[in-house]
Amino acid sequence: MFQPTYPIRTARLTLRPVRIDDLDDVYAYQRRPDVVRWMLGAEPRTREQSRASVLAMAGEDAWRAEGDCLTVAAVTDAGVVVGIVELVWRSQVDRTAEIGFVFHPDHGGRGLATEAAAAVLAWGFDEFGLHRVYGRCHGRNAASARMMTRLGMRQEARHVESYLFKGEWADQLVFAILAHEWRAGIRTPPS
Ligand SMILES: CC(C)(COP(=O)(O)OP(=O)(O)OC[C@H]1O[C@@H](n2cnc3c(N)ncnc32)[C@H](O)[C@@H]1OP(=O)(O)O)[C@@H](O)C(=O)NCCC(=O)NCCS
Repeated sequence: MFQPTYPIRTARLTLRPVRIDDLDDVYAYQRRPDVVRWMLGAEPRTREQSRASVLAMAGEDAWRAEGDCLTVAAVTDAGVVVGIVELVWRSQVDRTAEIGFVFHPDHGGRGLATEAAAAVLAWGFDEFGLHRVYGRCHGRNAASARMMTRLGMRQEARHVESYLFKGEWADQLVFAILAHEWRAGIRTPPS
């Protein structure tokens, strides 16, 4: 089993596994149409759907086998869960993972999501020993693309009209970063 030493502390956040009592904070952003706007298959959630989501995420505290998702809640000093970062163990042999993130827009525009994701990448590269982390987003998800660029990820591809999104063909952007690029780059490490 592989997991960070919890909690991970960054300059402004505490990162720890999701808990059942995070439901109110998680529902506060999962219910919003603007949050799920560019996410495949996601619709604004009801409170009951958020409860199921929180229950599922609460079990994602470690990697036990390839394919597992590690999800951490980003908590402010005020104790508010402002979003989550997830890292999916895509390939054991290729030491590759996929990163994802969802944050409450009310707490956006301050670099909190980038700070949290950087700490998760630091665990993946520096502690676990990943070789490559990639991320994907809708071609029009500008905030996500900017965030991956801020993390030092390179845009590797734009798969044009590669998937059906809400009934229309959509472009998918692929970003990635390698361990040696991560080590050479400037990022926000956990404090
Ligand atoms: C993707 C997402 C997490 C990005 O959120 P965000 O608020 O833009 O990201 P951050 O919290 O890192 O804030 C970065 C912004 O704050 C600004 N900022 C202010 N202070 C900052 C600081 N100290 N450090 C870094 N950035 C800072 C940056 O310039 C940036 O602004 P810009 O995007 O206008 O250039 C958010 O848009 C989201 O949750 N979207 C919905 C879910 C989603 O689509 N997820 C991705 C699925 S692929």
